[in-house]
Amino acid sequence: MDAHTERAVADVSAFVEAVTETRKYLAKVSDPDRIDAAESELLGRKSLLVLARRQLGNLPSDIRKQAGRRVNEARDRLQQAVDEARSRVKAELRVQSYETDRLDLTERLISQRQRRGSLHLITQARDHLEDIFVGMGFTVAEGPEVESAWYNYEALNIPEWHPARGSFDTLFVDLGEPEEVMLRSHNSPVQIRTMEACEPPIYIVAPGRAFRRDTADATHLPTFNQIEGLVVDHDITMADLAGTVDEFVKAFFGREVDCRLRPSHFPFTEPSAEFDVSRPDGSWLELGGCGMVHPDVLRNCEVDPEVWQGFAFGFGIDRLVAIRYQLEDIRELANSDVRFLRQFQHPVREVLL
Ligand code: DAH
Repeated sequence: MDAHTERAVADVSAFVEAVTETRKYLAKVSDPDRIDAAESELLGRKSLLVLARRQLGNLPSDIRKQAGRRVNEARDRLQQAVDEARSRVKAELRVQSYETDRLDLTERLISQRQRRGSLHLITQARDHLEDIFVGMGFTVAEGPEVESAWYNYEALNIPEWHPARGSFDTLFVDLGEPEEVMLRSHNSPVQIRTMEACEPPIYIVAPGRAFRRDTADATHLPTFNQIEGLVVDHDITMADLAGTVDEFVKAFFGREVDCRLRPSHFPFTEPSAEFDVSRPDGSWLELGGCGMVHPDVLRNCEVDPEVWQGFAFGFGIDRLVAIRYQLEDIRELANSDVRFLRQFQHPVREVLL
């Protein structure tokens, strides 16, 4: 073997041995820069690999092929070791960052100055109303906030020509036929959906948002909260309605508060009434509407009015809250001003009427 060949064989072996050593090193390394450095030293542009490859040309043809294979196999083994080291280090670093970036959510730093958050006044009132009605045997129902004309109006006995439609200031959604899809303007469509989905007897309340094309002022909000009630059972009369409204009013405002029904008109109830609550000075405040479910509404939901009767009621939760807490401006309920809301962190239980 001449000196050239000897030198070439030595360079090929040097590469193969370096690969063996470097693989051991890479198995323990935990610094990504060191992996890069090792890779470039052995496989880079001026690396031992390049040198070994160049030397292959100086080998006699009978051993060149075998030496070439050794070099390639060693290169593949090294590349594999580099890849493995990289993914291992990446995983280690990720675990480390979980530790260092972790937020200690168990820590509590509530000093005298810092206050805990609390439920919004509307949410408190809604929960309270749900509790009262659940206590009376009702369940809580829900419906979508985007409704079709059928659920929001037609099934409730408000056909297209009915003047009541005009008084609702509907917010239409640009979908389907014109004036066909809308934000629900009251929670009464939940009556229809419930009667469609469940067989009587039905005892439900449906709290939630309703929407109208109103400009916000001291007594109106374009997005407001209502609670709708529906009872369908045998032998239901106006007396059941009056008793239910009276019981809820007393449970919410206090036993000394009275309520009265006043004749009124709604297309979906017959007879219809509005109900008022008494104030200490003897005057009355209007709270909501109610009545016996109109036979046509029952028929629209395939409930036989000869067999079943029902009553329904609906009122604004925002208005209820405004009355109970003597709010001068109902917009306070939508402003999210914590200075206002903080006053109600521990809800006052006594009656403010
Ligand atoms: N949906 C009516 C409104 O928003 C309120 C209402 C009145 C609901 C009478 C009823 C009812 O269920 O019987 O103005």
